Amino acid sequence: MDGTFAYIIVLFLLTLFFTFKFLQKRNRTTPWNQTSAKLPPGSMGWPYIGQTLQLYSQDPNVFFFTKQKRYGEIFKTKILGCPCVMLASPEAARFVLVTQAHLFKPTYPKSKERLIGPCALFFHQGEYHMRLRKLIQRSLSLHSLRNLVPHIQALAISTIKSWTHDGTIINTFKEMKKFSFEVGILTIFGNLESHLREELKKNYWIVDSGYNSFPSQIPGTQYKKALLARKRLGSILKEIISERKEKKLIEKERDLLSCLLNWKGEGEKLSDDEIADNIIGVLFAAQDTTATVMTWVVKYLHDEPKLLECVKAEQKAIHMENDGNLSWNQTRNMPITNKVVLESMRMASVISFPFREAVADVEYKGFLIPKGWKAMPLFRNIHHNPEFFPEPHKFNPSRFEVAPKPNTFMPFGSGVHACPGNELAKLETLIMIHHLVTKFRLEVVGRESGIQYGPFPLPLNGLPVRCWRESSSS
Ligand code: HEM
Repeated sequence: MDGTFAYIIVLFLLTLFFTFKFLQKRNRTTPWNQTSAKLPPGSMGWPYIGQTLQLYSQDPNVFFFTKQKRYGEIFKTKILGCPCVMLASPEAARFVLVTQAHLFKPTYPKSKERLIGPCALFFHQGEYHMRLRKLIQRSLSLHSLRNLVPHIQALAISTIKSWTHDGTIINTFKEMKKFSFEVGILTIFGNLESHLREELKKNYWIVDSGYNSFPSQIPGTQYKKALLARKRLGSILKEIISERKEKKLIEKERDLLSCLLNWKGEGEKLSDDEIADNIIGVLFAAQDTTATVMTWVVKYLHDEPKLLECVKAEQKAIHMENDGNLSWNQTRNMPITNKVVLESMRMASVISFPFREAVADVEYKGFLIPKGWKAMPLFRNIHHNPEFFPEPHKFNPSRFEVAPKPNTFMPFGSGVHACPGNELAKLETLIMIHHLVTKFRLEVVGRESGIQYGPFPLPLNGLPVRCWRESSSS
C-alpha cells in the first residue's frame, strides 16, 4: 500500500515537472501574433497556481521588490491562475492608465462584482463609465464638500469621544472604518433617517465581512451570508430612492443620491439597480482605503513625537482662531499636517496596484502584453523607488515641500479611473487629526509592531490604542 502511494506521488510530481517545463518552453517560443515583441522576463511558477504561494507566503512587497531587482521594471508572473505583467516605472503606469487606457480594462473577480453590483462604475469603461463618473465627481466636488465640514466635524468628535470610556482599548482601524462609513453615508444621502441608516449599516457590515472570504454559495458560509445581505441592501436602497422621488427632494440637494436621481441623459434615467450598485460601490471604495490611511497617520504620529508636537502646534493655533469650529478655509491651510497625510499615503501605498487586463495584444518598450493578461502598474514600487523618493523607508513629510515628479506619486491612481473621492478622503483625515491632537491623547497598546495585509497593509492588529481627553482641553 505504502509503495503504491509513493509511486502515485512520484508520478504526480513528474507530471507537474514536465507540464511546468513544457509551459515554460511554450512561453519562450510561442509566436503570440505577428509582432516581434517578446514576453517580459520573469517566472510563471507552477502550472495553474503560478506564484500565488510565493506571493501569499511572504510580505507582498518583498515579493514584488525582489522581482523588480531581479528582472527590472517590467516582469511577468502568474497569480491566482492569471498571467500578469507587472510594471514598476512611472512611464509604464502612465501608458497603462492614461495614454493607452482604452487598451486596458479594469478587472475584478466575479465574486466581488456580485457583492458590489455589476453596474458600479469601476467595472466599466467607455460612455457609461464617463457618465457615472461625472455624476459622482459632482457630488464630491470642492463646492459640495465645503458644506460637509461641520457635519464631518460632528462625526469626528462623537467618534473620538466614544473611545474615551474608562481607558478601553480600541482597534484604531475598526473605529476609523466606522467613522469613514458615517462620512460615506453623509456624502451619499445627506440627512438619512436613523432607522434606515441602522438597517444599511447592519447589512453593509455583513457584506463587508464576506467580501474577502472564499466565494462559496453553500448556505451558512460567510460569502453566502454576504450575498443575502447584499440583496437586503438593494431593497433598503430602493425604499430610500422611492421615498426621495415621492418627496421631490431631489432638485435642491447636492448629495450623491440626488446627483444620480437627477441625471437625465437623452430622456433616459438611471435605473434603481444602477443607482443602488453605484451607491454601494462608492461606500466600498471610500471605506477601507480611508480608514487604512487614517490608521497609518495615527501610527506614524505616535512613533514620531517631535513631528506630533509640530502637528499639535499647527492644529492648536487653528483651534484658537475659531473656538474649535473648523472652517473650510482652515482645512485648506494645514501645511504640516497635510504633508504628514501625503507621506503616510506614500509609505502605506494602500492600493499597491490597480487591476487591469489587456483587451488586445499590446507592445510596450519592445515587450508584449498579450490580450487577456493582467497588466498591473506597481504604485508601491514606484512610491518606494529611491530615485524618486530618497531614503524611501524613512517617514519624512518634508519631502513633500517639493512636488513629486509627474507619475511618481499616485495614491489615488491616475487617468480615467483615478479616485474621485480624493478630496473627501483628505478632508475627513485632516478633520479627524485636528480633533484628535487638539483635545485627546493616544497611547499604542502592546509592543508588537509589524504589518498585516487584509488585503490592504495595516499596522498589526489594526493598531490597538487607548485614548484620553487631555486634561487642559475643554
Ligand atoms: C485615502 C483614501 C482613498 C484611496 C487611497 C483611494 C484610492 C483609489 C485608487 C488608487 C483608485 C483607482 C483604482 C483603479 O485605477 O483601478 C480609486 C478609485 C475610486 N475611488 Fe478611491 N480612494 C480613497 C478614498 C475614496 C473615497 C473617500 C471615495 C468616495 C467617497 C472613493 C471613491 C472611489 C471610486 C468611486 C473609484 C472608482 C473610480 C472609477 O473607476 O472611475 N475613494 N480610489
